[in-house]
Amino acid sequence: MYEFLTSLELYNFVKGPMVWVAFIMFIGGSIYRIVSLLYRAKKAKVIYPYMSLKYTLRSLLHWIIPFASTNMRKRPWITVITFLFHICLIVTPVFLLGHNMLWRESWNIKWWTLPERVADAMTLIVIFSALFFLLRRLISPEVRFVTFPSDYVLLIIAVAPFITGFLVFHQLFFDYDIMVTLHILFGEITLIAIPFTRLSHMLFFWLTRAYTGSDFGAVRHSRDY
Ligand code: HEM
Ligand code: HEM
Repeated sequence: MYEFLTSLELYNFVKGPMVWVAFIMFIGGSIYRIVSLLYRAKKAKVIYPYMSLKYTLRSLLHWIIPFASTNMRKRPWITVITFLFHICLIVTPVFLLGHNMLWRESWNIKWWTLPERVADAMTLIVIFSALFFLLRRLISPEVRFVTFPSDYVLLIIAVAPFITGFLVFHQLFFDYDIMVTLHILFGEITLIAIPFTRLSHMLFFWLTRAYTGSDFGAVRHSRDY
């Protein structure tokens, strides 16, 4: 196992062709999932006629602002942690110095970079928030009741690149090569999982809000928050 993980072929594969596979599946898969959902919604015939831009925007605005909805005000801790988790989860990998250097080396693409300490702190926020979600699922009876084994798997998939990235950055693990290989592999698994698992909520949240917001606003004449 040790030899397998440290082998140059595996490292080269994970750092080379597999990066292409991951990005193509992430981008292609995301486009496919969004287009096929829009197509099915069109075929259902009863969805588009009810859509209202006004109520879609009203709903989106309310759910994207922390504490705007009643449900968020009822659970302040969960709201703060959910927002922090998601902001750090998306912003950190995109603006990370270590990642930006790779884009620059390969494609000469340059953009903003977070100070290393800030990126490190944001990584820890993701890790501790995930720990909080895990404990909530284990401890809180009403959350445990609706928890499936797949919820734990998805949580692990989301947080694994952050745990391994943190260990790589601080060189905390005895073998740097193993950790980098594992980090890249987990990063690729996360990217591929986004369009094809429930992590696809990232792609669909605006559609969910458009539908729910329009249904409540234009049809039921009430609010969805
Ligand atoms: C797909 C290909 C990926 C490659 C080739 C890659 C490569 C790297 C490398 C080389 C580092 C170390 C940087 C350093 O030593 O300063 C790193 C750190 C990191 N990566 Fe990635 N990564 C990938 C995907 C991801 C993904 C998808 C995520 C998150 C969703 C992620 C999150 C992180 C974080 C948070 C750190 C740094 C942690 C810290 O500074 O404490 N990576 N990555
Ligand atoms: C911008 C796009 C995104 C939006 C609007 C969004 C929204 C949400 C919301 C509303 C929840 C429910 C929180 C609660 O229980 O109160 C949630 C949960 C979650 N999200 Fe996202 N999300 C996005 C992107 C992502 C991405 C990219 C990932 C991972 C790669 C992710 C991973 C998770 C996980 C693991 C949970 C469940 C936490 C738990 O176990 O309770 N999200 N998201």
